[in-house]
Amino acid sequence: MIQVSVVGASGYTGVELIKILLKHPQVNIASLTTRSQEPVSLEKLVPSLPKHSGLRLETFSLRKVASNSDVIFLALPHTQAMDLAHDFYRAGKIVIDLSADFRIQRHKLYEVWYGHKHTRKELLEDAVYGLPEAYREQIKKAQLVANPGCYATSLLLALQPALEQKLIEIDSIVADSKSGVSGAGRKLSDATHFCNVDENFSAYKVNQHQHIPEVEANLEKFAGKPVPLTFVPHLLPLERGILSTLYVNKKKGVTAGRVRQAYLEAFQNEPFVRVRPEGEFPAIKDVAYTNFCDLGIWTSDRSNWVIIISVIDNLLKGASGQAVQNMNIRCGFDETEGLL
Ligand SMILES: NC(=O)c1ccc[n+]([C@@H]2O[C@H](COP(=O)([O-])OP(=O)(O)OC[C@H]3O[C@@H](n4cnc5c(N)ncnc54)[C@H](OP(=O)(O)O)[C@@H]3O)[C@@H](O)[C@H]2O)c1
Repeated sequence: MIQVSVVGASGYTGVELIKILLKHPQVNIASLTTRSQEPVSLEKLVPSLPKHSGLRLETFSLRKVASNSDVIFLALPHTQAMDLAHDFYRAGKIVIDLSADFRIQRHKLYEVWYGHKHTRKELLEDAVYGLPEAYREQIKKAQLVANPGCYATSLLLALQPALEQKLIEIDSIVADSKSGVSGAGRKLSDATHFCNVDENFSAYKVNQHQHIPEVEANLEKFAGKPVPLTFVPHLLPLERGILSTLYVNKKKGVTAGRVRQAYLEAFQNEPFVRVRPEGEFPAIKDVAYTNFCDLGIWTSDRSNWVIIISVIDNLLKGASGQAVQNMNIRCGFDETEGLL
């Protein structure tokens, strides 16, 4: 049994973490924290949870969390996690950071895309990007896991086999993604106001979304050379879920059968990635409230285009589910523990 804490426990990803950790047989919840000066009972924060957990969110104390925890999840807005991650890391704790603060290894790139100075750049080298399907061996030894972004997860899993097997033209990738509103977190804004979202559908941050640098950095690792990404995110009038449609060109001479085979082989032993049979394409409801990423692939010998549909729940495989998957890998538990 390990002792686990969640910092930023009242947010959307924090609450999802609590729900998973409460059911996880290898875990005891040591601390749940908030900036609030008043303790908040878990039952009040999440009335849908079973009663009588006895847990409450308490005012954050670095000393208390560092002394009572083996693993600490940081579920804080980006820029708010870097100093705390540093302090817990130096205290010898395993840190799983759900924010973007350690996802981009080049601190200058982080500063450009996030408009904030990186105060703990010395830790960037030690951080492991927490995409299990690509970096499982490194995650097993990591003390600081940079949990991937939600859009990034849906795009990277959709492209990994095609790039690793060198089946597609790397300058041809266009990604068109749609996300539910919980992707923006619980803070209020005009863009996520009910009246702007309900019965509406819109693009935003066209080719300027902050997940672009982490996706491009990992695509480069898959392909062995720089891969430019064209990326258009959209806001769906849904609570949760992401559907990404990727358009890419096959390399000359690559058959449709080879493309499909690459995906089937790459993910055949992955517990959370499911490749649909030919002609079938996944929907958000197929993965909502789960840690699965489902992929549907259209490819034909009569066309150069390959179209990949990738769906995840942004709060689970895109955030808290993947974070627990990373904890399971790091701590030597069954990778699916608490997640199926
Ligand atoms: N939402 C998603 O789908 C998703 C997916 C992947 C990654 N992420 C990342 O995961 C992290 C958490 O996301 P989230 O959606 O859970 O965010 P959220 O709903 O906005 O919650 C963040 C929590 O952090 C706490 N907090 C501490 N310092 C804060 C500050 N200065 N400003 C605002 N809140 C502060 C707040 O709790 P108290 O007020 O109780 O202190 C808040 O509940 C973010 O970095 C986000 O980018 C989110």
